[in-house]
Amino acid sequence: MTPISPELAQAARLLRADELVAIPTETVYGLAGNIFSPTAIAKIFALKQRPLFNPLIVHIHSIGQLPTLARHVPEKAQRLAAAFWPGPLTLVLKKQPSVPDLITAGKDTVAVRMPNHPLVLALLQQVGFPLAAPSANPFGSISPTRAAHVEEYFGATGLLVLDGGDCARGIESTIVGFDDDDEPVVYRLGSLALEEIEAVVGPVALNNKKETAPDAPGMLSRHYAPATPTHLTADPAAFIAPLADKKIGLLLFRRKLDAPFVKHQVVLSEAGDLGEAANGLYGALHALDKLQLDLIVAERMPDAGLGKSINDRLERATKTR
Ligand code: TXA
Ligand code: MG
Repeated sequence: MTPISPELAQAARLLRADELVAIPTETVYGLAGNIFSPTAIAKIFALKQRPLFNPLIVHIHSIGQLPTLARHVPEKAQRLAAAFWPGPLTLVLKKQPSVPDLITAGKDTVAVRMPNHPLVLALLQQVGFPLAAPSANPFGSISPTRAAHVEEYFGATGLLVLDGGDCARGIESTIVGFDDDDEPVVYRLGSLALEEIEAVVGPVALNNKKETAPDAPGMLSRHYAPATPTHLTADPAAFIAPLADKKIGLLLFRRKLDAPFVKHQVVLSEAGDLGEAANGLYGALHALDKLQLDLIVAERMPDAGLGKSINDRLERATKTR
């Protein structure tokens, strides 16, 4: 094994002592704690101000750990894990009795993923136990894609933030569960495109109403949200035309608008690359949210590949509380 840096050793010590550590992953930064420590898990819910009925994702470092968490792994789940782990795929599977109810919000299933980041994989190996890690942001706000975002949210609490650089993907993992016939159902769109999943297991159903509130449809639809009122439109130019007296920030896919009264325009990918757009999305929302704007106007992405995932996040960002 590669030698452990002092920071990683410190993170492992904290986790063994029921403390939390912010971890980098390829999707977003996570707020991690030992799944077997009720103290640590209580701290996650408290720090995030997250409702207890919202279950957590469990992070592992090898497929070999899966049977210790899941009592049944459908054949299509095995194929997906083999194809995409480590990577931005979370599998929801029937849980082993040893998985604490606090993690799963009392459900009979557990959400598991193997993240693709060398720092967190090394940390998971070092501690030996799986880590529960929701995104490292207060409940409902924009997920962090760099260490500085986590510092802004939680730095004052003394939380150790392992700095693993900017997240390579930039939006959360895609969550896939299974129906009674062991057929895959996508619960949350994310960094892995539907098309990539279907290339491995064939057509999948989409039920992303389940995300964040599997048993309380619609209740928690506002999520990933800036404090600034945000609007999503296929035609930003037409939308802002009557709003010249407003302080507007634009979040655009490929190119800026010719609108001199708009002070702030962010383009996500001049090349029209949806991966690049996903990667920059939360950073752009964090930046626009700091500018004391009246309104953020976001352009709807093409409805394919990661464009669907970006549109899902933008739709949730525009819901009123
Ligand atoms: O990319 C990610 O998945 C990041 C990084 C840190 O790994 N984590 C993340 O966690 O996004 P979080 O807590 O923000 O989202 C967890 C979501 C819940 O809101 C819920 O929708 C779903 O995972 N989930 C967890 N356990 C579940 C279960 N047993 N059944 C259905 N959905 C579940
Ligand atoms: Mg989250």
